[in-house]
Amino acid sequence: MAETTYDVVIIGGGPGGYNAAIRAGQLGLKVACVDKGVNGGQALGGTCLNVGCMPSKALLHASELFEMAAKDFAGLGIQVTPKLDLVQMMQQKAESVTALTKGVEFLFKKNKVDWVKGAGKIAGTGKVEVTGADGQATTLSAKAIVIATGSEPSMLPGVTVDQKRIVDSTGALSLPEVPKSLIVIGAGIIGLELGSVWRRLGAKVTVVEFLDRIIPGADAEVAKTLQRSLTKQGMEFRLSSKVTGAKASKTGVSLTVEPVAGGAAETLQADYLLACVGRRPYTEGLGLESVGIAPDKRGFIETDHWRTSAEGVWAIGDVTLGPMLAHKAEEEAIACIETIAGHAGHVSYGVIPSVIYTWPEVAWVGKTEEELKAEGRAYKAGKFPFTANSRAKINHEAEGFVKVLADAATDEVLGVHMIGPSVSEMVGEYCVAMEFRAASEDVARTCHPHPTRSEALRQAAMGVEGWTMQA
Ligand code: FAD
Ligand code: NAI
Repeated sequence: MAETTYDVVIIGGGPGGYNAAIRAGQLGLKVACVDKGVNGGQALGGTCLNVGCMPSKALLHASELFEMAAKDFAGLGIQVTPKLDLVQMMQQKAESVTALTKGVEFLFKKNKVDWVKGAGKIAGTGKVEVTGADGQATTLSAKAIVIATGSEPSMLPGVTVDQKRIVDSTGALSLPEVPKSLIVIGAGIIGLELGSVWRRLGAKVTVVEFLDRIIPGADAEVAKTLQRSLTKQGMEFRLSSKVTGAKASKTGVSLTVEPVAGGAAETLQADYLLACVGRRPYTEGLGLESVGIAPDKRGFIETDHWRTSAEGVWAIGDVTLGPMLAHKAEEEAIACIETIAGHAGHVSYGVIPSVIYTWPEVAWVGKTEEELKAEGRAYKAGKFPFTANSRAKINHEAEGFVKVLADAATDEVLGVHMIGPSVSEMVGEYCVAMEFRAASEDVARTCHPHPTRSEALRQAAMGVEGWTMQA
């Protein structure tokens, strides 16, 4: 490292940190990104690239094709009997992840970002002490420090993750074999995505969920539809149930489950147990006290427009409040750095989409019907099923629907909820529409290509004014 004085030092190299570093480089700021790596590795990209979004999507894609080949190809006139090669499936995942992390490394070079490998600790105003793997410490000076240290899996009392039989999401991305049986604690996004991967590859998957519904936060009608579909695929749900303890042996796990409302406890057995009951902000050893920052009760660093309570210290991504999503971290990264550089940073927190990459996929942006009702806001809804969409029909993939919610008086789009194949790729259209504060009629009167699933977006928007034409 030639120099240790910077305009900005970013702690953390995940989607928050690396995007902040790139944007700072683009704006001509002298920038360093300190990262200690994830899961024992040294690669950039944080949770998302190394043990999150990307490896999970690699396995979701491969397992989806495996199941399709086994169950759907024959109906299309293609006779095959697929054979699983789990080692190769894991290998292609690892290769893609490496290519992506190297991509970030390339972008750092391109934008003159210094990548400082090691654990960063704030050591008073404008100082970050970095301890490398060799134990050597260096002190960096910075006009601005950006905390982007992300999150880690939340722990469940009585359930000790050993990454052998009792795993968290990181362990579940690299199981050495297909379990005969897998119990998942938590019917949230990780549980349903990774549960789907292993079910498709042959595991009997049971999901134990504390609440009386799956995917809290998603539109209730969408959640019910997804649960019905996953049940049909063979996933078993035990709602309103809590795991009170789990014991691992060499060959499996035994766990006790109780009804939340009270009642007799039950003992369940499985080959593996995946605990995924949420994630918590990660600030261990960060030296927050040296600048007087006290995280909130749940460990989050509170911010006002990405500024913490300490002068010159900023925070973005999973370590701050809001949805724990890579694109939320990226959005905050851009806004935070632009503000530091003297520009006007902005994040539209109401237009951050969510996606669940199951089959069918779930995607939404904006308010749910439940939220609008709770706010007492008058709204109109338009809904269109994929069974009436020609492309979905012709592909024999007609599950799900699109639902558009618009203000009853102004027709402004307030929320869109979709379930169906490829909806992850379609929700962006409504993000753009909502950024422009479009009315549902704007979408209803926009020409969409035929035959595509995107026509369902338009038909649902037509439904808001009651003139859906194709259903
Ligand atoms: P992180 O990605 O967690 O990065 C933080 C980095 O900081 C890490 O590299 C860490 O080692 C480093 N660090 C921490 N402390 C220090 C320190 N003191 N010094 C130096 N370095 C430090 N989100 C989506 O939007 N879409 C998805 O499909 C998706 N899938 C996911 C699947 C799984 C299995 C998981 C676990 C998460 C998924 N997420 C997904 C969530 C997403 O990964 C996070 O929201 C995102 O990574 C947050 O980015 P971040 O930069 O805030 O933190
Ligand atoms: P989550 O918050 O999505 O779901 C956790 C689930 O566990 C909830 O349904 C909750 O009610 C349940 N739960 C909590 N305590 C429980 C208990 N004691 N017993 C049984 N159930 C219990 O958290 P998850 O799935 O761990 O994911 C963490 C975060 O990672 C997500 O919220 C999301 O922000 C991010 N992520 C995003 C993805 C995407 O965008 N596609 C994919 C995977 C993760």
